[in-house]
Amino acid sequence: MARVVIVYHSGRGHTEALAKAALEGAESVPGVTAACIPAAEAMKRIAELDAADAMIFGCPTYMGSGSSEFKKFMEATSRLWSELRWKDKLAAGFTNSGSQSGDKLVTLIQLAVFAAQHGMLWVSLGLLPGNNASTASIEDLNRLGSFLGAMGQSNVDQGSDVAPPPADRATARHLGARVAALALRFAR
Ligand SMILES: Cc1cc2nc3c(=O)[nH]c(=O)nc-3n(C[C@H](O)[C@H](O)[C@H](O)COP(=O)(O)O)c2cc1C
Repeated sequence: MARVVIVYHSGRGHTEALAKAALEGAESVPGVTAACIPAAEAMKRIAELDAADAMIFGCPTYMGSGSSEFKKFMEATSRLWSELRWKDKLAAGFTNSGSQSGDKLVTLIQLAVFAAQHGMLWVSLGLLPGNNASTASIEDLNRLGSFLGAMGQSNVDQGSDVAPPPADRATARHLGARVAALALRFAR
């Protein structure tokens, strides 16, 4: 058995759609249970984080880095950091923004460094890039061509019912399933 927890922030629901997709992916792996925890609640649910074998962090990219709401959570974990409480747990991440790039990589790097500060083991996306050839399509898995984590892009004039599109949700689902499968290997 292994447990995966997804800690996320979302201002208008777009990034939450990726969190839910990652949850679906994690739960699709037999022997794994999973939950989504909004970043604003995470410090009140520390026991759940402590009990997890893997954590997936996600937040929107705002002004070229992770949202301040998620950063609040990151900073609030500093007392756990000083005990290296989450050392050797698996970690992974996702982000979403309005532009195709939008500097999302900065956010994924921020999440990976955060995980490293906690002594966690970062799990990459594990997919080749999609949508990068004349025969490819925006419906491809990993259509935004990320390696460090899952990326989503949400048109700024669309609600979270349609944005991010299915390919990005499927990419986040893949990440959830990958982390869950690896968590099973690592779980004591
Ligand atoms: C304060 C603010 C800053 C933003 N900065 C960026 C940015 O740097 N790059 C980008 O592509 N989109 C940016 N956006 C667009 C959001 O990333 C986009 O609307 C995203 O889908 C929001 O996700 P959410 O609904 O989970 O909050 C910004 C939006 C806001 C509100």
